[in-house]
Amino acid sequence: MALWRYPTIPTSEITPESLYRERRQFMKQSAGLALAAALPSMVTAAENPIKLPDWKQQLASVPASPFSSDEPLTDERTITTYNNFFEFGTRKRDPSDWGHYLKTDPWLVKVEGEVARPGVYDLNELIRPEWLEERIYRLRCVEAWSMVIPWSGFQLSELLKRLEPTSRAKYVVFETLYDPQQFPGQKQETIRWPYTEGLRMDEAMNPLTLMAVGLYGKPLPNQNGAPLRLVVPWKYGFKSIKSIVTIRLQEHQPVSSWQQLAPREYGFYANVNPQVSHPRWSQASERRLGKSGRQATLMFNGYAEQVAHLYKGMDLEKNY
Ligand code: MTE
Repeated sequence: MALWRYPTIPTSEITPESLYRERRQFMKQSAGLALAAALPSMVTAAENPIKLPDWKQQLASVPASPFSSDEPLTDERTITTYNNFFEFGTRKRDPSDWGHYLKTDPWLVKVEGEVARPGVYDLNELIRPEWLEERIYRLRCVEAWSMVIPWSGFQLSELLKRLEPTSRAKYVVFETLYDPQQFPGQKQETIRWPYTEGLRMDEAMNPLTLMAVGLYGKPLPNQNGAPLRLVVPWKYGFKSIKSIVTIRLQEHQPVSSWQQLAPREYGFYANVNPQVSHPRWSQASERRLGKSGRQATLMFNGYAEQVAHLYKGMDLEKNY
């Protein structure tokens, strides 16, 4: 078994936080892309030896979002080797051990349902390079651990506006690729495939809701959901569906994979809420990976100011 280990990110390419921050600072101060192109040995060529679509080459230099957290980043190795991605298996190391099976280029995304512009889009057509930015977000997993992750991505609202939802579009549904040849975990019926998640339209349009395509200034590693993954920072990590191939707009509330599997344990909303326990454990505190001890979990994972209004008047014990 060990012989077959195939780390997707070689040790030589792991970026320490200090170097990552320095490099980003340098990119900001430099003349941006033009200079980056003139210094291939420092940044682009070293990390991206093959020719990548334009937006991938820009990931190291995209502007920082004002929504970013200023907490210390979780190190890249932890973010890329301690994963939940059941399509590759249920152990935390499975996604980094088996992620190389997934082919992410070319990547097609089907857009369907209540939109004026349905179709099957190549990912490179969907992404507008000018939308890209870096967002440092806390990710709080329902298993009561958390990380701080520097994503690169774009607001989902930009994409939805471009697709022109109809007035009947009340929910957005996302599905992960179903292909047991590339995802060995799909040979087991752990959950009902394809992995499915959904958001209410106002949640999807909230400026915090991100579609991630990069991590630590590089294209998203397969184990983190390459090439396109949702990030909803005020919800438990399981809402952040990976390797998306379908985006559907619809009138009725969808049933997500975890809700379908264990409806008493996982609801549609899945907002981070320290006052509402999971039936089998408390959600009051969390373990920040890479730090000792535990810390208090914040309502809406610390993003209450931006999102609490979405749930005004709702009973959050019932709508868990
Ligand atoms: N998306 C798919 N398709 N399959 C999964 O098993 N796991 C979820 C979420 N997205 C999952 C998924 C869970 S439980 C968490 S906590 C996050 O991905 C973990 O993201 P990370 O591995 O990038 O930290």
